[in-house]
Amino acid sequence: MVGDDTWASLADKFADEAYASVKGYVRTHVMHQQLLEHLPPPPAPVLDVGGGAGHQSFPLAQAGYDVTLLDSSPAMLDKARQRLARLPGEVQHRVRLVRGDGEQAEEAVQGQRFAAVLCHGVLGYLEDPEPLVSQLCRCADAGGVVSIMTGNAKTGAVRPALERRWADALASFDARTEIGVLGVRGRADTVEELSELMRGRGVQPLRWYGVWLFVDWLEFGGAELDPSDAQQVAATAAVELEASRRDPYRQLSRVFHLVGRKGPN
Ligand SMILES: C[S@@+](CC[C@H](N)C(=O)[O-])C[C@H]1O[C@@H](n2cnc3c(N)ncnc32)[C@H](O)[C@@H]1O
Repeated sequence: MVGDDTWASLADKFADEAYASVKGYVRTHVMHQQLLEHLPPPPAPVLDVGGGAGHQSFPLAQAGYDVTLLDSSPAMLDKARQRLARLPGEVQHRVRLVRGDGEQAEEAVQGQRFAAVLCHGVLGYLEDPEPLVSQLCRCADAGGVVSIMTGNAKTGAVRPALERRWADALASFDARTEIGVLGVRGRADTVEELSELMRGRGVQPLRWYGVWLFVDWLEFGGAELDPSDAQQVAATAAVELEASRRDPYRQLSRVFHLVGRKGPN
């Protein structure tokens, strides 16, 4: 809720630590490539709901898109502001930061419609995804893209199994919630359920992808990947991008990225 900044205590952990890892790099890289397959060429307006510190939408601003980042957390918006200040002036001019709840996104952006509406890593923190998904679909222009990334309910046993918590793993096959890596309880969805929600709101699902797989499994298995080894990181990201597009790999990713397109109004 606006006014209750539950993300204040997580801002550093998420924005600085999680994204500094190889896994963080892979997430941004893979999803950026997946998005570019569906976005119109820049310039075009993009709304990032629950955009946090801008890790996904600032690269789009750098690519020439006009970005509106909407987030309910003042602490995360501060992080976004600090990161934005380090980018070239022309990129800064293409980004607008707005404080507000995603569930009131349409009002927060004064009815503007967007060529793409992103919502990555947010739905899992909400009890019911429907009100937010409705708003994402409303804010997309006719022909616009809706891009959702969230936890995959079908892979709940992966993390406890890799951490050798076997009793938890056994109990996780049909579980919908778990305490995530940030220490917050998260809820997972399925591609089918979110596709159905989109369809009911005029957005046709186009394609879905995995996000990270091997780096995630390696990390939980205890391997340390060096984010400063640029050559290795690039090679890793190339493998992850390929895995994210194919069965059975994408089905095993703990998060999925679903992209839909809004029909004519
Ligand atoms: C895990 S972070 C993801 C940030 C960003 N989308 C990314 O992928 O890097 C979740 C973000 O969602 C924001 N958030 C959570 N619930 C929200 C809501 N109901 N409306 C708007 N933002 C919300 C949090 O403040 C936080 O910045």
